[in-house]
Amino acid sequence: MFYQRPTLSKFLIEHLRGAPSEQDLSALLVDVAAAVKTIAAVVAKGQLHFRGEAAPDRATVNVHGEVQKPLDVLTNEIVLRHCEWGGLVAGMVSEELDEPYPIPADHRRGRYLLVFDPLDGSSNIDVNVSVGSIFSVLRHDTEAPPGPRDYLQPGHRQIAAGYAIYGPTTMLVLTVGNGTHGFTLDREIGNFILTHPDLRIPSETSEFAINTSNERFWEPPVQRYVGECKEGRSGIRERDFNMRWIASMVAEVHRILMRGGVFMYPRDTKDPKKPGRLRLLYEANPMALLVEQAGGRGSTGRGPLLDVQPESIHQRIPVVLGSHEEVERIERYHREFEDGTDRPFVSPLFNERSLFRPEAL
Ligand code: F6P
Ligand code: MN
Repeated sequence: MFYQRPTLSKFLIEHLRGAPSEQDLSALLVDVAAAVKTIAAVVAKGQLHFRGEAAPDRATVNVHGEVQKPLDVLTNEIVLRHCEWGGLVAGMVSEELDEPYPIPADHRRGRYLLVFDPLDGSSNIDVNVSVGSIFSVLRHDTEAPPGPRDYLQPGHRQIAAGYAIYGPTTMLVLTVGNGTHGFTLDREIGNFILTHPDLRIPSETSEFAINTSNERFWEPPVQRYVGECKEGRSGIRERDFNMRWIASMVAEVHRILMRGGVFMYPRDTKDPKKPGRLRLLYEANPMALLVEQAGGRGSTGRGPLLDVQPESIHQRIPVVLGSHEEVERIERYHREFEDGTDRPFVSPLFNERSLFRPEAL
């Protein structure tokens, strides 16, 4: 029976018992969950949310005089409104805001920073494919209001991270540094119920996810890895691989947590100004922590994602994450490319012009 499974609140009480400021962190995560429930309801309404012909590009006013906002703006406001009032956060950073959001003067400031992407993969909304919200919680241990630099903490300093996926069911997948756990929204009773405790990613996999339309821009180690996967049983991997690309990071990471796999949005040469597509603070770091807490690995291809020192709040970063052994292999391919050991050895004594060419002997 559902009532015998822990709710999110019960889970948080049990898992945070004894942790510093446990009640505050629990309360914040409950606020985030309330925002997620609201977003789930809005997303599920789809086009019904907009009374006009199509979702507007900008805020419009409907026949009832109500302001209708595009979903990315609306979901951003939903998170801000649910989390600003409780005296739990000192400030927030959102993918939708250029600058950090200061807590309004009529609310108390707390000791946490909330960093989030309110609607990830939002291009999938129009085609009714799963989207999600991603969030990360950092500490802010001073009384002073946070400035942008206070958010620039490496991913291993996150004290909680998670995502919500709005698919056939709405799920919240969460870590407070004690494993990765999945909760399913029971819409009838309005609670998140622990349905996927202690998720574990198999260390090996035969499934990869990458946008292959970018293939010509990839670096050689990524070309090598994907090429070998595609060669399948007839190549050095000696087994066939499957490929998936949903173009929704939340859905991609969710699949990896459920059945393994590797996800890559690597560094490429498409736009030299961008070192990757995904954002470090509110996409890569929370996902890397969730994956690592489930026994997987999160990397830039060249080293652990969680060790990267952020330089700006909207910084982009290359992302390789998923099954441990596969991510380690991709890191090895990057190392071998950098030190030249992935190229066949050509001896200066035995090359084409050499006196020692077999036919010259
Ligand atoms: O927020 C970025 C994002 O939408 C991710 O959710 C997704 O993995 C990626 O971009 C999709 O990229 P592309 O448009 O190259 O397929
Ligand atoms: Mn996003």
